Amino acid sequence: MSKNKSLNKAKSTKNDEFYTLASDIENEVKHYKHHFKDKVVFLNCDDPEKSQFWQYFSKNFKHLGLKKLIATHYNPSEPTYMLELYHYNEDPIKTKLKGNGDFRNSESISLLEESDIIITNPPFSIFREYLDQLFAYKKKFLIIGSKDAVTYKNVFKAFKENNIWIGYNSVTSFLVPSGDIKNVGAIWFTNLDIDKKNEKYPLYKKYDPNEYEKYDNFDAIHVEKAKDIPIDYEGLMGVPYSFLKYFNHKQFELVGMSAYSDEEYYGVGQLYIKGKKKFSRIVIRRR
Ligand SMILES: C[S@@+](CC[C@H](N)C(=O)[O-])C[C@H]1O[C@@H](n2cnc3c(N)ncnc32)[C@H](O)[C@@H]1O
Repeated sequence: MSKNKSLNKAKSTKNDEFYTLASDIENEVKHYKHHFKDKVVFLNCDDPEKSQFWQYFSKNFKHLGLKKLIATHYNPSEPTYMLELYHYNEDPIKTKLKGNGDFRNSESISLLEESDIIITNPPFSIFREYLDQLFAYKKKFLIIGSKDAVTYKNVFKAFKENNIWIGYNSVTSFLVPSGDIKNVGAIWFTNLDIDKKNEKYPLYKKYDPNEYEKYDNFDAIHVEKAKDIPIDYEGLMGVPYSFLKYFNHKQFELVGMSAYSDEEYYGVGQLYIKGKKKFSRIVIRRR
């Protein structure tokens, strides 16, 4: 492994031990309340005795009308346990697991299969694999990931196919094991139906060929900021990937992405203007 790669890996594994703040959970989950009635909710990357996710869902069990709440604890080196809650105000049932609580273990997968909605802040370093599992088992989810996760191939593909969208709030701080608060750039990803997904992004600028540059090597105009997307341009447009948080499939078609690497995302490679690379663009077209 190159020095850079191993440094990145160490950084990302360290970032796995970030704990979500109660206020971030409350502020986001309040938009999804209608999804929870009679549902089994599974927190599959958690430490239920510490996690604010467990706190929130156990306290709001009755209010949300949950059928059951499950959480598995993860311990990389030894067998661990799970908690199940069937009724508000009762003690949860604690059961030993055969394995270490890894979300990929067969006993975790059996729990996944019996669950309706999976909620957590999974380890960022294995986010791709985590999401692939949710898709493979056709699960509804509300999870936190790095805002850069939109550039992962499987995540971008899911956006393109309208199988994932970004929730309401950014997550800007996490609690770390030392008790400190760390600033992060994270967002909520979901496939639960929410009003936000159907909100139209307001467009007001008129297209002016003198104002919008074209890429040297791709037939699209460069739109530096999302607010400058012209209301009347029919062709392809390169906009910042952060625009995905406003993306509405009925309003725009997601064509491809020009990410950091040389990899092509749906025929869109690196984009240049006057020989200078333009980073982190998604290519869209108005519907
Ligand atoms: C970013 S932390 C979030 C913890 C908690 N969900 C929260 O939001 O406060 C990710 C958690 O996933 C656990 N974890 C790491 N690898 C895991 C795996 N392979 N399977 C299940 N959980 C894992 C870690 O122990 C850690 O507690």
